[in-house]
Amino acid sequence: MAGPGVKLLLSAILVAFAAFLYTFLETPFNSIVFEAKNSNPGPYTPHNPSICPQVPALRPKNHEIEQSILSKTSLESYHKNIITRLTGLIQIPSESYDDLGPIGLDPRWDIFFSVEAYIKKEYPAVFETVTLDHANTHGLILTWEGSVPPDKAKPILMLAHQDVVPVLPETVHEWTHPPYEGFFDGEIIWGRGATDDKGYMISLLESLDLLISSGFKPKRTVVVAFGCDEEISGENCGRPISDFLHGRYGDDGIYLIIDEGSVGIQQEFNRSFAMVSVAEKGYIDVSINVSSTGGHASNPTEHNTIGILSEIITAIESNPFEGKVTAANPMFDFLSCAAVHAPKSSFPGSIRSHLAQIASRNEKAEQDLARELDSLRYYFRTSQSVGKISGGLKINAIPELASAMVNLRLAVETSVSAVQAHYEALISPIARKHNMTLEGFNSPQASQSTSTNPRKISLSAIDALEPAPVSPTTGETEPFSILSGTIKRALRPLSANEEDLIVTPYLMPANTDTKFFWALSRNIYRFTPINLVENLNRAHTVDEFIRASEFVREPVFFSTLVLNADDAV
Ligand SMILES: *[C@@H]1O[C@H](CO)[C@@H](O)[C@H](O)[C@H]1NC(C)=O
Ligand SMILES: *[C@@H]1O[C@H](CO)[C@@H](O)[C@H](O)[C@H]1NC(C)=O
Ligand SMILES: *[C@@H]1O[C@H](CO)[C@@H](O)[C@H](O)[C@H]1NC(C)=O
Ligand SMILES: [Zn+2]
Repeated sequence: MAGPGVKLLLSAILVAFAAFLYTFLETPFNSIVFEAKNSNPGPYTPHNPSICPQVPALRPKNHEIEQSILSKTSLESYHKNIITRLTGLIQIPSESYDDLGPIGLDPRWDIFFSVEAYIKKEYPAVFETVTLDHANTHGLILTWEGSVPPDKAKPILMLAHQDVVPVLPETVHEWTHPPYEGFFDGEIIWGRGATDDKGYMISLLESLDLLISSGFKPKRTVVVAFGCDEEISGENCGRPISDFLHGRYGDDGIYLIIDEGSVGIQQEFNRSFAMVSVAEKGYIDVSINVSSTGGHASNPTEHNTIGILSEIITAIESNPFEGKVTAANPMFDFLSCAAVHAPKSSFPGSIRSHLAQIASRNEKAEQDLARELDSLRYYFRTSQSVGKISGGLKINAIPELASAMVNLRLAVETSVSAVQAHYEALISPIARKHNMTLEGFNSPQASQSTSTNPRKISLSAIDALEPAPVSPTTGETEPFSILSGTIKRALRPLSANEEDLIVTPYLMPANTDTKFFWALSRNIYRFTPINLVENLNRAHTVDEFIRASEFVREPVFFSTLVLNADDAV
């Protein structure tokens, strides 16, 4: 698909986006202007049990195994051990680059052999117990077979990725501790991958190790898979892993999928929430080419390709996608949870009253609330960012081609085709005005460079991805209840004066490897069991770190999840 140059640029855009994203995640709701209104809040009132119902903490039926895991993981020596295992993994610089060639040809992939060797060395009991399969060499699939066949008890799948975002050489000196030293200062573990995603990866392995050493024998098969290219396309491991598992378990063959999340545990409106991302925004890179005949600059046309492309970009930027908070967006569910579970005085009355109106599909309320939550606008609208432009080679020649690339993140309610239609509607009058042919997204000529008319505007979509289907969050016996009950059992709120965590649906504004797994399960949840606002805001940038006190609790969460999912067989 996209050539190396394009990919490099895209990665720059992605990194910039991620940095921006994590910056604004730091204090998402702090900048909301509270504007008191006294309209009818409907059911969105504190303590209403019908909105955002919470399940009780779910205690595994096998108390002995849970107890054994809890006592092991409370030991200082255990903490030391798991921290050392993580720092050792951080010391392997498993960077994934946008211009990587195929696995087997490009030697830069070989670092992933070291990752595999390392985890095998650190977790001998795990690798004696599971079957290890390789998807495209570096995609690792660990299967711990249950006593009940997968068609009677669907397997649970837990994902993490081995690769990290490259450290730019010119930023190495900005790190407090070198990015691949894996330095532990007694409180914080520093290094590239600490949160994204090696802490998660080690926690998954630890959870298996703890279960094995406690004598657990699963009924439900447990699958753990590690991608090698989540930070680039996912095509080299993410997709092959999904194909492998789909071949084995078929459509809807997985009980529940858990992968890294974006916010984890966070305090908003004076209440601690466990934010489980139940959907992801979609994605497209739109390529726009304006071509015409060239000529000498002494005899120019009034508008050449650069001028026309500028007109297109101006049109795109002056017609941004509309922001609205609809009931289809998991963020609506989050706000509903907050309206009901946050202290009354900490939740803005104006948001509260909008919720009831939005629930009854009041379009004006949808737009008003999006405006009010402007600091979070990209959770509620399709974003567009012109990231690349080129055209013209020589000052005295009329440019024959001018092109631009726009990166879009699609709001949950929209679709690739709706976004394409929006662009075609914006650009088509410009084409007409300049007597140019418009080759739209679905035009057969779009891929052929040798069209008959040299005066044309061509559009194409690269890496188009629909917004993810929203995973279910209701139903008492559904996997989401098992996950919620596990969160309540294994994790704690951020303030000592809070009784419990509120589990809430949330939206992932970026994409994970789960984008390849939609056919395998409806129940896809992206959740990292730590306070990511304090930690992940450094992911993809300098000084990535994880707080040891939170990291050492992660394996308890994952092993409890396996136990609870097993009890549901
Ligand atoms: C949270 O509670 C504290 C006191 O308990 C209060 O001072 C503060 O204003 C509250 N914050 C919000 C956002 O309501
Ligand atoms: C528009 O372009 C066509 C060729 O595609 C040409 O025949 C026609 O004369 C042009 N019209 C104007 C108004 O320039
Ligand atoms: C635009 O031109 C570039 C370079 O010739 C080409 O790779 C790309 O496919 C073109 N895009 C469209 C939409 O025609
Ligand atoms: Zn990640």
